[in-house]
Amino acid sequence: MKLFTVGPVACYPQVLEEMKRQMFSHRSEKYKTLHRETIALIQKFIETKNQVFLFSSTGTGFMEGSVRNCVEKKILCCINGSFGKRFSDVAISNGKSVEKLETTLGEPITPDLLDDKLSSCPDVEAVSITHNETSIGLINPLEHLADVVKKHGKLLFVDAVSSMGGTEIKVDKWGLDICFTSSQKCFGVPPGLAVGSVSKEALKRSGFVRNKGWYFDFKLWERYQKNAGTPMTSVIPQICGFNRILKLINGWGGKDKYFNLYSERNRRIREGVEKLGLSLYPNRDYASPTVSCINSPSNISGIKIYDKMRKKGFELAKGYGKIRETTFRIGNMGYVEFDDIDLMLKTLEEVLSEFNSDSVVT
Ligand SMILES: Cc1ncc(COP(=O)(O)O)c(C=O)c1O
Repeated sequence: MKLFTVGPVACYPQVLEEMKRQMFSHRSEKYKTLHRETIALIQKFIETKNQVFLFSSTGTGFMEGSVRNCVEKKILCCINGSFGKRFSDVAISNGKSVEKLETTLGEPITPDLLDDKLSSCPDVEAVSITHNETSIGLINPLEHLADVVKKHGKLLFVDAVSSMGGTEIKVDKWGLDICFTSSQKCFGVPPGLAVGSVSKEALKRSGFVRNKGWYFDFKLWERYQKNAGTPMTSVIPQICGFNRILKLINGWGGKDKYFNLYSERNRRIREGVEKLGLSLYPNRDYASPTVSCINSPSNISGIKIYDKMRKKGFELAKGYGKIRETTFRIGNMGYVEFDDIDLMLKTLEEVLSEFNSDSVVT
């Protein structure tokens, strides 16, 4: 099966090879070396001097951690899809009050909208932004949104789960207080590791916010980090895999080359589906570089396209949330070869013509 999923994605063979190794203690010198080296690599990649924690969880753990450590009462959540909504659900379930900035589905959060909203709710302590909204294949203009958040003097939490590794993120320059991802997306590593940077300001707040729990307590993580460790067992295989991909990217010519590879794959997919007469769901100016969300033809359900493609050996992704039936998605994260993109597009053409010749109305 060839994977064009949106996570977990296909992993690089070199990463899988690295993960096969025998276990060692997460308190050993060997682990400490791995930990220190991995943190230094990712700090360089996202251009930050902030602490970077390696959580034994998926990315949502970092969402919960940001809310619990840094918000006492109120947060503003920017929502233009299911993962923005998840951030607000996580905050509400942790007893925080939530202001919401929601757009029409398919449209970005813009700096003007955010500026107006923040002026109307000056009592929020933090703002959450989903950098790349995987559910609708849209990328929000993070750098410009971050400027607005800083102008209002708020903390900024960035869900970069499906963008970090696939497109540029400059944590310190843009002023991102928390910026996290999951291993199973753009870095092409199996799930189980969440990686996130935490600013000094965010750590300071964690020092006095109450009832933040234990597992994701940033101050506890900071203490263990001093000795290159984690409070609980580290997910050693995923960290080995993550370390390997970061070194591979450097060996391939650095992160800019990797980002170019992503844009090239993404362009090939987009142009391919457009040639088949299909259109993208989100506002084209904000189309995601890592996942394409495509309108299915009006007489065919996106789920049926997904099912038929799967039977022919290509796993795409179903539509998500409110547009589950009317769209389908094609990811270009992780281990994806150009020849497979061409084959996948050819198969999609066959699938669409089969639907047309059956004149299936669903
Ligand atoms: C943008 C975004 N945020 C959060 C998540 C949740 O990540 P995880 O399943 O690693 O907790 C996903 C997963 O698809 C995502 O795409």
